[in-house]
Amino acid sequence: MSYNVDTSSIFSFALETGISGDKVSSKRYLSNLKGMVADEAALEEMMKKEDSLVYEFYEMGVPEHPGDLAFGSTICYPGKVGDEYFMTKGHFHTILDTAEVYLCLKGRGLMLMENPEGDVTHEILTPGKMVYVPKRYAHRSVNIGNEPFVQFFVFRADAGHDYGTIETKGYRKLVVERDGDFAIIDNPKWGSK
Ligand code: NI
Repeated sequence: MSYNVDTSSIFSFALETGISGDKVSSKRYLSNLKGMVADEAALEEMMKKEDSLVYEFYEMGVPEHPGDLAFGSTICYPGKVGDEYFMTKGHFHTILDTAEVYLCLKGRGLMLMENPEGDVTHEILTPGKMVYVPKRYAHRSVNIGNEPFVQFFVFRADAGHDYGTIETKGYRKLVVERDGDFAIIDNPKWGSK
């Protein structure tokens, strides 16, 4: 459902949890990460016990118009598949030349970014830190902490989401736990599918 963007509107987001009472969230479970994690066997084992919630997001349904702004919140839960931290699928924008901002409200996370030419960068996010994701960069949120990693985001409403490139090729880098902290390592499976 979309709403009238030609008049002012007000929305609510809980500051700590990112939860909006104005929408139902979209949810992504372990099973949605099939084919996207480094350790597929570990994923299968976890799914046998429970298909746990990995992340959810509130997207407010702004019409895809270039003069409007899409916004919402995203909540990535703490956890790991093998030694790889819970993360969002990540995406390029269909209109590659569009940026996005993410403001961290809670937790400790990492925004992993890469462009089609192979430049990879990341930023660490804690409450009050905002990352500017430049145009042309795919972006994935990774929870490297012990509590929910909550962010508020805004981008050009017609930017669109290209999940397919990441689903097909993967990310060039993985974020894994090493000796109690995160490490960014090469993805041995990148581009191999
Ligand atoms: Ni985006």
